[in-house]
This record gives sequence, structure tokens and C-alpha cells, in this order.
Amino acid sequence: MNILVTGGAGYIGSHVVVELHEAGYNPIIVDNFSNSDKSVLKGLFEITGKEILLYEGDCRDQKFMESVFSSEDIHGVIHFAALKAVGESVQKPLEYYDNNVGSLILLLTLMKQYKIENLVFSSSCTVYGQPDSLPVTEEAPKKPAESPYGNTKQLCEEIIEDTFKSGQQIKAFALRYFNPIGAHHTGNIGELPLGIPNNLVPFITQTAAGLRDSIIIFGDDYDTPDGTCIRDYIHVMDLAKAHVRSLEVLNRMNQSHYDYINIGTGNGHSVLEVIQKFELANSASLNYNIGTRRVGDVEKVYASADKAKEVLGWQANRSLDESLRDAWNWQQKLRDSENA
Ligand code: NAD
Ligand code: UFG
Repeated sequence: MNILVTGGAGYIGSHVVVELHEAGYNPIIVDNFSNSDKSVLKGLFEITGKEILLYEGDCRDQKFMESVFSSEDIHGVIHFAALKAVGESVQKPLEYYDNNVGSLILLLTLMKQYKIENLVFSSSCTVYGQPDSLPVTEEAPKKPAESPYGNTKQLCEEIIEDTFKSGQQIKAFALRYFNPIGAHHTGNIGELPLGIPNNLVPFITQTAAGLRDSIIIFGDDYDTPDGTCIRDYIHVMDLAKAHVRSLEVLNRMNQSHYDYINIGTGNGHSVLEVIQKFELANSASLNYNIGTRRVGDVEKVYASADKAKEVLGWQANRSLDESLRDAWNWQQKLRDSENA
């Protein structure tokens, strides 16, 4: 079965491509490489032993996307392609709405035209803002988005739901990811932030590798046990598996369907804990300083993972230590390949 993976050259998409291949699917990547590098194809080949089919182009380009849909017999779509930097979205809201919302609308239109039913959409726990109670369940109300990026995820979920309600034959899950970290255990693919990383774990690994002097912890005066923010960090390969499970469940359904599901571990860890666990797991020491709070950060959020277990038969298996070891292994391999 051919599965179209938009944004399949990106961080999460590339790991899902591996998992799809292993589960017997035939992933087909569409990517414009606006936030990824072609070297990922080499990493995918090293892991899968297969040249993954790639269509290079923009998901908002109707002619290009029509050529993809008319050339391939597509059984399902996983839609990762999006811009994802929260701060940048405040500076460039129109680019975010255009890319994230525009690409979904075109995709849903083509899915209708080509009678493709199965869709897995990358959503985010950002839709909850700061939840009133934890762990956060899918029933928690969505809060007004903190950023245009967050708003695109809320809008995209609503667009899929409205499409489902309109009677279009569609079977879709919006997966609300918590904080994906880590890399494939081989270190052949991983997260490749362009420029200075925004996210905690790439910042940690780049600091350990000597590419950055020190990490700034964004605030230690939150109402948490050590004062730093709490998140639910999930290994990217566990996250990848949730996509394969989603497709399997959608495949078995014979009626239109739409639902949204948390994809997290159910455990919260503070920024300080992550730094300390990284040091222990990798026998490394990190320079860090306490800085001021980052605008828009929520204090604490972690998932209720019950619905994912119930609906998808999925749960995260890998520990935070394993995630941090794999993240470091990837960073070291990157450094070695750059020095080679
Ligand atoms: P990423 O930037 O590594 O991957 C996105 C990929 O999409 C990139 O390869 C990029 O080149 C491509 N792309 C972007 N716009 C495109 C377009 N218009 N046409 C074709 N290709 C395009 O990001 P990621 O971390 O892998 O995230 C994947 C998805 O998961 C995104 O939708 C993101 O919003 C969502 N998400 C990510 C996180 C996270 O922390 N990484 C958390 C929650 C949700
Ligand atoms: N942090 C630091 N220093 C840094 C980077 C991060 O202290 O240099 C802290 C943040 O303040 C936060 C925690 O580390 O408390 C995690 O921050 P990340 O930027 O790694 O992740 P976020 O939870 O802020 O956001 C991520 C993605 C969003 C997505 C969200 C929910 O960046 O796109 O997870 O899925 F919406």
C-alpha cells in the first residue's frame, strides 16, 4: 500500500517513513526541503536498504500535487508538512496560515477527487494551552492559541472535522503530539535543526558537542517541584509507531470517521531533570544558566495516554534515558560525518 508522506524528509516524517517501510507499506515522500536536507535520503537508504520514492515540490502547488496524485495509487496520507517554529509564526503569521492551512485544504480536496479516505494529521498538544488539570485528556477544552502556529493546528483540526461532517468519505485521526525527541537508534537519521535550535533537546546535544557554549533554562520560578517547566517527552520512534497503528485502525474501518488522540508517554519531566538525565545517561557535563521565562511557554503539560491505548492499542515503550542516548548518538554521528 502506497502511503503519501508529506514532509517526509523532516524530523518526524523521516522516522515514520522507516516505520512504514518496516510494517510493509510503501512510503512516498513529498517535500520541498524548506526545513530539511537531502542527506536524510542517504540515512533512509542506510536503514531501509531501499530508495524511498521522493517527489520534490510544495504541498500548496496544485499542479505539482495533482501530478503526484495522478501518478501514484495512493492508499493513505500522513500530513506532516508544515512550518513549526512558534516564535517565527508570531513574526510571519501569513506564511504560517498559508503553508499549514493551505496545504491541508489542497490535500483534502485532492483526497476527495481521487477517492482517498485515510488521513493521519500531525497536530500538537499546543491546542490545550495550559490545561486546567493534568494529565490532560482529549476532552479538555482547547484554549485560545498562544501563537499563529498553535492556531493553525486548531484550525486544521476543525477543517478536518468539518470535512468529515460534510459527508466526504474520510477516515482521519489528528494525532496531538507532545514533545518528540531522540532519533533512530542507528543514528542515521535524527533531528536536523537549521540554525539555532528552538527546542530543548537539540540545544542540549549541540551544547554537549561544543557547538553552543551553554543552555539557558527559560525560568526556574514556575509552580513545579524544581521551578522549571514540565513536558511529556516522547521518543520519535514510539511516535512513529503510533502513525502505523493509526493507519491500521483506519484501514479496518468501513465508515467515515474523525477523531483526535494524544500521543505522549503520560509522564512529565522538568527541564532540569532532562538536563541531569542527559548528563547521567551520556556521562557528559553541560553548562547551563537560569534565564528569564520564554514568552508563551506553558508551565506544565503531560498527556493522558489512555485513549491512544484504547483506540490504537498503542503506548510509548522507550524511556527518557533511551531517548536522550539516541539523541546524543545522532548528534555524535553528525559531528563525525561533518569532520570526515
Ligand atoms: P520538520 O520541519 O522537521 O518537518 C517538516 C517537513 O515538511 C520539512 O521537511 C519541510 O521541508 C517540509 N515542508 C514544510 N512545508 C512544506 C510544503 N509546503 N510543501 C512540502 N514540504 C513542506 O518538522 P517536524 O518536527 O518533523 O514536524 C512534523 C509535523 O509535526 C509538523 O506538522 C509539526 O507542526 C508537527 N509537530 C511537531 C512537533 C515537534 O516538536 N517537532 C510537535 C507537535 C507537532
Ligand atoms: N527550554 C529551555 N531552554 C531552551 C529550550 C527550551 O529552557 O534552550 C525549555 C522550554 O522553556 C520548555 C521546555 O524546555 O519549558 C521544552 O521546550 P521546547 O521548545 O523543546 O518544546 P515546547 O514544549 O516549547 O514546544 C514543542 C514544539 C512546539 C509544539 C509543542 C507541543 O516546539 O511546536 O512542543 O507539541 F507545539
